[in-house]
Amino acid sequence: MRSHRCGELNASHVNQEVDVCGWAHRRRDHGGIIFIDLRDREGLVQVVFDPGERESFRRAESVRSEYVLKVHGTVRPRPEGTENRQMATGEIEVLATQLEILNRAEPPPFPLESDIEVNEETRLRYRYIDLRRPLMQQRIKTRRDITRFLRNFLDQQGFYEIETPFLTKATPEGARDYLVPSRTHANRFFALPQSPQLYKQLLMISGMDRYYQVVRCFRDEDLRADRQPEFTQLDIETSFMDENQIMDIMEDMMRALFAEILSVDLPSPFPRMTHAEALRRFASDKPDLRIALELVDIADLVKDVDFKVFAEPARDPQGRVAALKIPGGSHLTRKEIDELTRYVSIFGARGLAYIKVNQRAQGSAGLQSPIIKFLPDSVVDAILDRAGAASSDLVFFGAGVAAVVNESMGALRTKLGHDLRLIKPGWQPLWVTDFPLFEWDHKLQRWSALHHPFTAPKCSLEELLSDPGRAISRAYDMVLNGMEIGGGSIRIHRTDMQHAVFQLLGIDEREAQEKFGFLLQALKYGCPPHGGLAFGLDRLVMLMSGANSIREVMAFPKTQSAWCPLMDAPAPVSDEQLRELGIQLRNPPSKDKDKASVATSGPR
Ligand code: AMO
Ligand code: AMP
Repeated sequence: MRSHRCGELNASHVNQEVDVCGWAHRRRDHGGIIFIDLRDREGLVQVVFDPGERESFRRAESVRSEYVLKVHGTVRPRPEGTENRQMATGEIEVLATQLEILNRAEPPPFPLESDIEVNEETRLRYRYIDLRRPLMQQRIKTRRDITRFLRNFLDQQGFYEIETPFLTKATPEGARDYLVPSRTHANRFFALPQSPQLYKQLLMISGMDRYYQVVRCFRDEDLRADRQPEFTQLDIETSFMDENQIMDIMEDMMRALFAEILSVDLPSPFPRMTHAEALRRFASDKPDLRIALELVDIADLVKDVDFKVFAEPARDPQGRVAALKIPGGSHLTRKEIDELTRYVSIFGARGLAYIKVNQRAQGSAGLQSPIIKFLPDSVVDAILDRAGAASSDLVFFGAGVAAVVNESMGALRTKLGHDLRLIKPGWQPLWVTDFPLFEWDHKLQRWSALHHPFTAPKCSLEELLSDPGRAISRAYDMVLNGMEIGGGSIRIHRTDMQHAVFQLLGIDEREAQEKFGFLLQALKYGCPPHGGLAFGLDRLVMLMSGANSIREVMAFPKTQSAWCPLMDAPAPVSDEQLRELGIQLRNPPSKDKDKASVATSGPR
């Protein structure tokens, strides 16, 4: 139907006759001449209809937004002074001699200009139109470019792309499973994979040596801007490589990717930081190193003061008292500080003590703070020294259970970094390593795996059993600009170690056999040392395309309430289907209510 794509035409095509097809992006009537910007995947081209071509001019008059057109015409330079340097095709236009209307269109529910704000539910309901917007076309193209590059890279490194089942059994990645009832096996359910973790380990036992897969994962968890119920991983596993070799290959891949797609040189090597250091300095296990703010611990300075808010956590081994200096932060108003106090309370902080340093040389007269009256001058001085606070700085404090202090002060650091523009432009990748193998679950009163139960510890079996809380794992996360874009580990490849870890996690022999008997069995048949990781592809594409949510880089995402407005899924099913599956609903909707909910089809 066409000789060229709209967005491809340029000065080199001048005087050529062309056929182009696309959508009418915009029509302008200019005293006797009609201009239509015709749009396809590659971009826009201006088409001119002259009244001399009577038939096509008449048709052009009837064209409305988003009509689908085929144009035959000649490429010519735009008249001097009317070129558009912003547009790739801005030097030329197509003088139409024939116009065919391939299809008419209803007025679109929202304009397709990229910078117009449209409510997200409407965008998702009409996603097929939303995706026509040039910005969305660009993002989908970037996603395809990134995926293709990663596949090529791994192919060249000898990785096999191998598919693994979606109808499978639950693997514990920490979220709830999406279940699929089985018609042929009464009372049984498949689980959609939270990741292909166990299959890829089995593939290593099969001798596949290097595996990858661009694969959908399913997790029924609370959603955020960087989480979706189904998302895509670039999932990778290798045999006979240690963590340093795996991290090296993955870094090489990321450097090559950023050079190719964004012409950005990422550092070589990526900095590495232990989990403990990341928490200590940045109160986060995925610190954004573009933000130059760092915490310092002051427990030793305040453990003996009368101010209980500080002294009690300072003496508690589970506690933390930390200070965060904001350079030039003394201009923050009382109101702004109150707002920040409310902000940290979301993360459980009971308050947000601060010291404003107006004039450091004036001693306490130069300070403004609700807490210095509770602290000896010498302690205040020592705190300000340790924080490196000078005149016009402000120091915030977090005190309490370490986990709460870390979460609230980590979030505060990131927020202030953004709000006060204390953020360096560019890209800051980082490996976080040496995670604890387990964390203590206070509710369940037992250990739980920080990553997943197949991660190998750095220590021996005996050391693990004697002090599980101290065990460090052979796990590593890749962090980019404060977002965890990938994570993995060296795996347990010995049956005794896997048994021991299950036991420490409170999974008894019977449950271990029931859930993971196949793995324990497989480990006995010559399992090589192996490890790998998985990248969150959506997160990576989101960062690389500058989008602010992973929904912006997925063709058909779900809303924040895990609902698809386009198809209105999830949806009720017929009694017939339920009967076939042997399922009876506990809270069936009354017939009328059900109809109403289908009719309004709002998110639930
Ligand atoms: P993990 O659970 O850390 O590891 O997941 C790997 C990466 O997947 C991305 N990710 C998500 N992206 C969007 N929406 C979600 N709900 C979501 N959950 C996770 C993150 C994360 O870094 N099997 C292991 C990997 C391994 O050990 O090899 C796993 O799945 O970017
Ligand atoms: P209070 O004695 O509770 O009135 O608190 C005195 C000051 O300490 C106030 O500025 C509070 O915001 C602050 N504060 C209270 N609890 C904490 C905490 N856990 N961490 C940091 N600051 C706190």
